[in-house]
Amino acid sequence: MAELKLMNINKRYPNGFHAVKDLNIYVSDGEFLSLVGPSGCGKSTTLRMIAGLEDISEGELYIGNRLSNDIPAKDRGIAMVFQSYALFPHMTVEANITFGLKIKKVPEKIRKEKLNWVLELLDLKGLENRKPAELSGGQRQRVALGRALVLDPDVLLLDEPLSNLDAKLRVKMRTELKRIHKKLKSTIIYVTHDQAEAMTLSDRIAVMKDGKLMQIGTPSEIYNNPANKFVAGFVGSPAMNFISGELKLIDNKNYFVFEMGKIELPELLKEKIKESIKGKDVVLGIRPEDIEISFEKDNNSLTGVTSIRETLGSDDYVTVEMGNILLTVRVEPEKFIPMDEKCYLKLKGNKMHLFNKDED
Ligand SMILES: Nc1ncnc2c1ncn2[C@@H]1O[C@H](COP(=O)(O)OP(=O)(O)OP(=O)(O)O)[C@@H](O)[C@H]1O
Ligand SMILES: [Mg+2]
Repeated sequence: MAELKLMNINKRYPNGFHAVKDLNIYVSDGEFLSLVGPSGCGKSTTLRMIAGLEDISEGELYIGNRLSNDIPAKDRGIAMVFQSYALFPHMTVEANITFGLKIKKVPEKIRKEKLNWVLELLDLKGLENRKPAELSGGQRQRVALGRALVLDPDVLLLDEPLSNLDAKLRVKMRTELKRIHKKLKSTIIYVTHDQAEAMTLSDRIAVMKDGKLMQIGTPSEIYNNPANKFVAGFVGSPAMNFISGELKLIDNKNYFVFEMGKIELPELLKEKIKESIKGKDVVLGIRPEDIEISFEKDNNSLTGVTSIRETLGSDDYVTVEMGNILLTVRVEPEKFIPMDEKCYLKLKGNKMHLFNKDED
C-alpha cells in the first residue's frame, strides 16, 4: 500500500525559517495529487521531507501504515524527480537511467528492457550514450523522469518535471504522464506552476501559501468552490475578478454595494453570508467566463465602458472599466464588440463568490 499521511508536518530550517506549517494531507493509494502555490510557499520542502532528504521538524509522516519520519530515504519506496534534475554528470544517459536498478541488483536483461521502455516512452532513443552536458534542458528533464520511472516506485514525487519543455512537448508529456500513472498506478505528488497541468492531471489539488495548506480538493472543487480569496485568485487564468464593497440589506434583499453600483445577490449566497461572512466589508469574486457583456440595460446589471480586447487563441477577453475598477470578461472570438462604448455587465448569479475582505 502506498498511501501517504502527513500529520501536522512542520519544517524549520536551521536558520530558523519556518517553511512548512502544520501540514495535514492524506494521499490515497494510487492517487495523483498536485501541489501548487506561489514560489517559496514550501512545495519542494514538502516533497523533500516525504522523500527523506530533509528532516521533519515536527509531525508524523506515514507511508502505507508505517511511521516513516526516521526511515532512510532509500528504504521508503519513493522516487523523486527534482526541480533541477540532479543527473550524474559523468555518466551517460543509459547509465543515469539504469543506475538505481544496478544498485538494486536487477539483472542486466531486465535493466535493458526497462531502459528501452523509457527511452521509447520519453522520446530519448539515440541519446543513450550522451552525457548530461550534451543534452538540452528538456532532454535532461526526461532522463531524470526516466530514471525515476524504471524503479516502479510505490510513490513518485515530481517537482516541476516538465518545466523545461517547449509547449508542444509539454502537452505531449502531460498526456504521457497520465497514461503512465494509469498503467503504473503509483501514488504521485506532482508540483507544478502550470494550472492546466494541475487541472487536467490531478485527482485532487492542494494549494499552499506561506507554508500552509489553503485548500485541498478535486480540480472542480478548487475552481468552482475556492475556500478563500487567495485560492480563488491563484487558480484560473486569466484570474478571477475581485470587487471590494459591502453587504447591504435593502427592502429585505441582500445587495452587494460598491462605489460604481450595486447588485442583488442570489438566494444561494444567503447561507454563505450567514455562515462564513464576517462583517459587512466583503470582496465579490467573479470569473471572466461568468460575466456577460450586453448593450441593453438589465435591471440587475453593472454599467461600464469597454476598453481593450485581447486574443488568447481560443478565447477573447475584453477589459471593461468601471471608474478605476477593471474587469476581465471572456467573449466568443467571433463576436463583434465595439470598444470605448458604454456597456452592461450581467454577472451569473450562481457563479458569484463572496469573501471576507481581510482574509486571504
Ligand atoms: N536550506 C534552507 N534553509 C533555509 N531556508 C530555506 C532552505 N531551503 C528553502 N528555504 C526557504 O523555504 C521556503 C520554501 O522553499 P521551497 O523550496 O520549498 O519553495 P517552493 O514552493 O518549492 O518554491 P518554488 O516554486 O520557487 O520552487 C522558501 O522561502 C525558501 O527560501
Ligand atoms: Mg520548488
